[in-house]
Amino acid sequence: MTQKSRLFYQSRSRRPVLDKARGVYMWDIAGKRYLDGSSGAMVCNIGHSNPHVLEAMRRQMEKSSFGYRLHFETEPAEQLAEKTAALSPPGLDRVFFVSGGSEAVESTIKLARQYALAIGEAQRWKVISRHPSYHGCTLGALAVTSYAPLTAPFDPMMRPMPKIPAPRAYLDGLDPDDPATGRHYANMLEERILAEGPETVLAFIVEPVGGASTGALVPPAGYMERIREICDAYGLLLIHDEVMSGGGRTGRFFASEHWGAAPDIIAISKGFGAGYMPLGAMIAHDRIVEAVLDAGGFAHGFTYAGNPLACAAGLAVITEIETQGMMANAAAMGTLLKSRLAGLMERFPFIGDVRGLGLLLAFELVADRHTMMPLPRALNAHDRLVEIAYENGLIIYSRRSRGGYSGDHFLVCPPMIVTEAQIDEIMGMLIVSLERFAAEAGLPVARAA
Ligand SMILES: Cc1ncc(COP(=O)(O)O)c(C=O)c1O
Repeated sequence: MTQKSRLFYQSRSRRPVLDKARGVYMWDIAGKRYLDGSSGAMVCNIGHSNPHVLEAMRRQMEKSSFGYRLHFETEPAEQLAEKTAALSPPGLDRVFFVSGGSEAVESTIKLARQYALAIGEAQRWKVISRHPSYHGCTLGALAVTSYAPLTAPFDPMMRPMPKIPAPRAYLDGLDPDDPATGRHYANMLEERILAEGPETVLAFIVEPVGGASTGALVPPAGYMERIREICDAYGLLLIHDEVMSGGGRTGRFFASEHWGAAPDIIAISKGFGAGYMPLGAMIAHDRIVEAVLDAGGFAHGFTYAGNPLACAAGLAVITEIETQGMMANAAAMGTLLKSRLAGLMERFPFIGDVRGLGLLLAFELVADRHTMMPLPRALNAHDRLVEIAYENGLIIYSRRSRGGYSGDHFLVCPPMIVTEAQIDEIMGMLIVSLERFAAEAGLPVARAA
């Protein structure tokens, strides 16, 4: 593109123009094919251009594509709420639609606050979260986010919210399978609540399996259960941010199902609309919603909430996930892909950790696997490896892993329909890309077996 574009996002860098996308593949207008190894930003969970979803959207568009919630109920919104509630933990059967993850998180925080007011606990307003974390880019969601490059410019405009360390056992040399490790990190929540004054703390927000900021961090044994106990002991609401982990990618519809410690409120988006329409939801316990509605109503809402076209798409996405057995495939292919990624550690000594659950997977690059020292910042590995892979036709997703300023991890999260042959293809392109990155960066590579 030679002419200056009127369009802008975060920076001046531009990408090729997308022509079409089918299944796990995408093509640019020059005809180059890419394997979508990160489902966009962990969004297109059921693959691109699913004909059943497109047909459901076409049918809905011919009936109506918008109906404002103050003027009409719509059948797709009602049906999707019913279906979502049925998939949610017991008691979490009230659904509030939004158009994205940040809106979903904002909604959880505001509902929690209004619940505290409704039950006469107006002194509760602090929402504890983890470092690092990403919960969205709007100011409320950003206040509970801990990722300095994104938060620092706006610090003076936000009310500081308390943070506790994410349970990154691999950095601290602790065994993630030892319940003592889970207790060690979860107890940091209790310490923080006590330091803040328990009567002032409203909620704790956590991603059950981490997204981009922690690189698919899986909580250590016992962590999620202990967190639930602590929230109950001090009267906090437990909010699960399943914007990335929800929707089936980990092998269950909600990642929290892996631990059986249910939250009070859930935020979901990305895989919920799976890229077909902007869609997200807050799912809340009935007792919370009833208290807020009894006290005068929820003072919050978005114009596009419950859009019938978005809800018809969301409903068709869930139907596809269920009828095509996609969660079972995510679990099976995730196990295979994770072991193939772990296998790379022999060849590439600068891969320090491979982690994740189902098809929410990541690997982290380090200078030294024993000390977990990150690669030199100036190498910009998080950027460079993504660029090399992109040139080779593989899309992966990266972030700085250490507070946003150093460290490099990479999410490899293909759609849930990925096949074994496509995993071979991902691995082939990834190996070639790692080899070229290593050569450029002067990093050692062991000989192929
Ligand atoms: C865990 C989590 N929460 C919230 C968000 C914000 O979602 P959105 O970008 O749709 O506003 C994201 C986006 O990456 C996310 O990963």
